[in-house]
Amino acid sequence: LIKKQRFPEGFLWGGAVAANQCEGAYLEGGKGLTPVDILPDAKHGRQDALKHPTKAMNTEYDFYPSHESIDFYHRYKEDIALFAEMGFKVFRFSICWARIFPKGDETLPNEQGLEFYDRVIEECLKHNIEPLVTINHFDTPLYLMTKYGGWKNRNLIDFYLAYCEVLFKRYQKKVKYWLTFNEINMILHLPLLGGAIDTSLSNEPNQDIYQGSHHQLVASAMATKRAREINPKMQIGCMLAGASTYPLTCNPEDVFAAQEANRKNYFFIDVQSRGAYPSYLNRYFEENNIHLQMESEDKNILKENTVDFISFSYYSSRLTSADPEAGEQTSGNVFKSLKNPYLERSDWGWQIDPLGLRITMNDLYDRYQKPLFVVENGLGAFDQIEEQGIIDDGRIHYLQAHINAMGEAIADGVECLGYTAWGCIDLVSASTGEMSKRYGFIYVDKDDEGKGTLNRKKKKSFDWYKKVIASNGDDL
Ligand code: BG6
Repeated sequence: LIKKQRFPEGFLWGGAVAANQCEGAYLEGGKGLTPVDILPDAKHGRQDALKHPTKAMNTEYDFYPSHESIDFYHRYKEDIALFAEMGFKVFRFSICWARIFPKGDETLPNEQGLEFYDRVIEECLKHNIEPLVTINHFDTPLYLMTKYGGWKNRNLIDFYLAYCEVLFKRYQKKVKYWLTFNEINMILHLPLLGGAIDTSLSNEPNQDIYQGSHHQLVASAMATKRAREINPKMQIGCMLAGASTYPLTCNPEDVFAAQEANRKNYFFIDVQSRGAYPSYLNRYFEENNIHLQMESEDKNILKENTVDFISFSYYSSRLTSADPEAGEQTSGNVFKSLKNPYLERSDWGWQIDPLGLRITMNDLYDRYQKPLFVVENGLGAFDQIEEQGIIDDGRIHYLQAHINAMGEAIADGVECLGYTAWGCIDLVSASTGEMSKRYGFIYVDKDDEGKGTLNRKKKKSFDWYKKVIASNGDDL
């Protein structure tokens, strides 16, 4: 039974996408290449390409899912009109860095790229939809990887800041909410997408990853500072691939393993929200031979420019044990997790844990006491077109249960600005490159081989979500 909740007045309901998974038009308007543009689909070795990007660049694949994606680049008007029909108050999308600075290290931005986002933002505002912009969602220009080695190189901070400067100045009156880096902790798991780093070329992959993380943290803090100077009304958030890790058993060894796993993720937000490296990380660095290169001003920059709010994605909780032999691993997850016997799993093996969202929100709020924003949540599943249309009851149940859990967390006292369902329109999966892993309220006619009309079609969940928004979350 779903309990009724009162969500605060002005709660921002909406949906989320990312440029690298929806825009397509991969060479149009002067755009440069990004890491996803060299990745094939799952059947043609995406997993291997994610681990060996330089090798992938020198391989010719039959099919690249990002090159056309769902063609949002040409169809954004139609798509935003559908979001408006659902009653969206907010639309989270990302700006593709390589549309603005195609190589990443130019001095002048590409006007054509900016004009595209002028149009997208205008379209949102026309429908009274608040844009929520991710500045970097898995698409640092590829040239910055090949020429500079990606985020492990400190020069990336300046290139990123030049890009932010253009965005903040141009959109300061139109965009209030900004996220500096999508899932900043993803660099630990997918260094190509998170940091444009090819760890297969390195003798010290861990060193590179943490050095890259440090540069992103400094870049994020400096961007926050600059945004406030340009227009203090802009609200800057960090973004975590969230979800609490549970211990497999009540054995204290397992409990401690779970604490350590959580800290590996919290570390990023500890820096972005509290403004300093947590002391627990020192031991990890020492034991793993990691030596961060820091400039003398870094500590102050981090300390003085913490974020306004904390956004995160939540798909599932995670489970761990101190015993490497214990339990069975789930399949298909970027974050390793053991199978939790109390949970059901999605078509892709992701565990389904609505209460975990309430737990995660309480954990984050207890730790940081800053407003949260749930900027990704959803069910990637196969959809079937039947005579009556696309009856995606599984997705509705998933979202119902998670929105209910979010309402409970709010009732627990957690401050929360809004909720943007991931992949509000079907798009290319980041981890697998598949179209068939669908998240949307809106179906896109395209298959895993890239065939289809690209026509949009409302699913059953479309009307359901419209009702949820209209009732401000009361009618689930
Ligand atoms: C998050 C990312 O990790 O999860 C999104 O921010 C991604 O880009 C989403 O699409 C779902 O993952 P996947 O692999 O199913 O697309």
